[in-house]
Amino acid sequence: MRKEEIKSLVSRMTLEEKAGMCSGADFWYLKSIERLGIPQVMVTDGPHGIRKQSNQADHLGINESEKSVCFPAGCATASSFDRSLLTKLGETVGHECQAMGVSTILGPAMNIKRSPLCGRNFEYYSEDPLVSAELAAAMITGVQSKHVGTSAKHFLANNQEKRRMTNSSEVDERTLREIYLASFEGAVKKAKPWTVMNSYNRINGAFVGDSKEYLTDILRDEWGFDGYVVSDWGAVNDRVQALKAGLDLEMPSSNGINDKLIVDAVQNGKLEETVVDQACERILDVIFRYTENRDETAVFDYEKDHATAAEMEAECAVLLKNDDQILPLRKNSKIAFIGKYVKEPRYQGGGSSHINSWKVESALEAVKDIAGVTFSRGFDDVEDIVDEKLQEEAVKAAQEAEIAVVFAGLPDNFESEGYDRKHMNLPDCQNTLIERIASVQKNVVVVLHNGSPVRMPWKEQVKGILEAYLGGEAVGKAVVDLLFGKANPCGRLAETFPERLEDTPCYLTYGKGKDTALYQEGVFVGYRYYTSRNVKAAYPFGYGLSYTTFAYENLTVDKKEMDDTEILKVSVNVKNTGDRSGKEVVQLYVQAPGDEVVRPIRELRGFDKIMLEPGEEKTVTFELDMRAFAYWNTQIHDWFAEDGIYRILIGRNAEEMLLEETVTVHGTKTVPRIYSMNTCMGELMRDPHAQAVMGPFLQGMQQNTDAQKMADAQENDTSGAINAEMMNAMMEDMPLRQLLSFVPGMKREMLDQLLAALNQ
Ligand code: BGC
Repeated sequence: MRKEEIKSLVSRMTLEEKAGMCSGADFWYLKSIERLGIPQVMVTDGPHGIRKQSNQADHLGINESEKSVCFPAGCATASSFDRSLLTKLGETVGHECQAMGVSTILGPAMNIKRSPLCGRNFEYYSEDPLVSAELAAAMITGVQSKHVGTSAKHFLANNQEKRRMTNSSEVDERTLREIYLASFEGAVKKAKPWTVMNSYNRINGAFVGDSKEYLTDILRDEWGFDGYVVSDWGAVNDRVQALKAGLDLEMPSSNGINDKLIVDAVQNGKLEETVVDQACERILDVIFRYTENRDETAVFDYEKDHATAAEMEAECAVLLKNDDQILPLRKNSKIAFIGKYVKEPRYQGGGSSHINSWKVESALEAVKDIAGVTFSRGFDDVEDIVDEKLQEEAVKAAQEAEIAVVFAGLPDNFESEGYDRKHMNLPDCQNTLIERIASVQKNVVVVLHNGSPVRMPWKEQVKGILEAYLGGEAVGKAVVDLLFGKANPCGRLAETFPERLEDTPCYLTYGKGKDTALYQEGVFVGYRYYTSRNVKAAYPFGYGLSYTTFAYENLTVDKKEMDDTEILKVSVNVKNTGDRSGKEVVQLYVQAPGDEVVRPIRELRGFDKIMLEPGEEKTVTFELDMRAFAYWNTQIHDWFAEDGIYRILIGRNAEEMLLEETVTVHGTKTVPRIYSMNTCMGELMRDPHAQAVMGPFLQGMQQNTDAQKMADAQENDTSGAINAEMMNAMMEDMPLRQLLSFVPGMKREMLDQLLAALNQ
């Protein structure tokens, strides 16, 4: 429907109808107005499948929903580093939405993984905003290609579950821009989600839902968002203020209470009616985007989508360790599958994303078609208690086999929406089981089912580790295909696996505040922290092995010097040097000079996933624009690339750089210099304008100043007490006001004039 038609529709609505349109009819439906032909539409959770509740609605995944296909969760799909995979996931889910009559799926969830402890990390993509934004954009594009909406959530700085509804994320402007906003910015600009969901939390004291700065100034005016903003379920603090700020739709229903506040505010002159009109226009626009393109005939094949879920998971799992090429397994070996998750895999997380899966395919089922294995349960994870009998059986099975594959992971209650994890450990009963098995069997492979990093105290005692993450309902099939080499692992970690919780960037503050979360680590989130501080990770960001090998050469840049308004073209050759086909994730990092502000040692600025046959070589190209070099400058409130030499790096992962080039970048934006009496000489001497202004004064200084005396003293000094380096260091930090003492005849008025000239 065209904008004018929507406007005319809204003009025919009463104030009460308009206020009513700005909140849900119930838990999942928006309101309809029959007399005006406004249809009723439904939104439901996802994002890795459809949680359509017909009865007894709730937002915590408690009551059952209709059966649907559970695809790998965000933690897994992000590890694919594969935009086309996310688009395909979006298309598949979008098509299922058409078939199930769902107008908008509530996702993707794309908050940054600030700490491995966040209970909801399993839904989120990455610790890196570029990866998160790119993959979310791909997913959004896929869903919306089926004329179904998405809801990019949870906007903004919602990085913990503890007190998620009241907590204030205390975070500085630059960090917000470079890390937390950036994750949404890329997705909004690239894929234009039909809706954005504001989070429950506050930022620096104010609720996101009440914030015009985030919901309108940045989201709409800067980034061009043109859908509606919907509250997370119940994330409305002050309805009238929120509407003014740009929160269009309140979900779920507030039983008319908040609608009445809107009506009253208009009638009392506290709210412009045009603000209500505008929210309605946005909501109706999105409703009609769906209803006018409704595919009533859509049906989907559960079996086919289940197979798609398996194919996807096989592209997501990350091979962390493969000593002595223990994997792929050989079919005729004597293999023991051990662990509860062999039979009952943990494949999705708890909370609002919880899918009532159509079917679940375990590794035990899937392996039947491939090889004979023995199975023993090993542990029960309902309570973390070592079951002696189960362990003994498992150890015996491991001993009798040639290879033991232990399926370990986090139990449901260890990670979920609604609360954070307290530690990074697997249940003790699993750790002891693995250790006992490793003491009797030298060929041990561990398959992990978890939504976020775990400690692996047995890491050196096993030969293989396959991180399956929460791989969706077909995880068993995918894992078996990977273990036996039917598929070649090609996932890479989209988050760092630290050695210990104490190594994490926000260890000192995460979850510690009562109602506040101090983001003291600033931009040093994830690998930005580990690599800058040289803290070795158990497995770094970007890490993952393959059954084949890849070699890199010939990194080239198309120019060695450029303005920040130009595009730098970078290319690199990648060759499959092994004997089987495989996929590689090519990662480009940039190291900035970092003279002006403290910056991470390197940041991911490009990635691409490519398929290579044995011996095949491909050239991968990247285009870097100003943002690849820039940081957020809080003086000009804008992106700013400082002048200098930047290193362009190709890395196998965030820790391991392989190839390097450099480019000199000239920044074209200027940051106005504001000098004061306390500006130091070093800073002044690096600014050509200041140098020109200061020239005459400095000459005066040189004749008979204390500084000159110091210089003379230095010349005559044979003891080495003062050297040129020390002199410079002293001058570097000497404030302007000190000229009063050092330049004979210098008067306060002269210094004032000098300062005025400097600031011109
Ligand atoms: C969650 C959202 C979800 C909504 C509806 C909230 O508690 O934070 O992610 O979409 O409930 O279930």
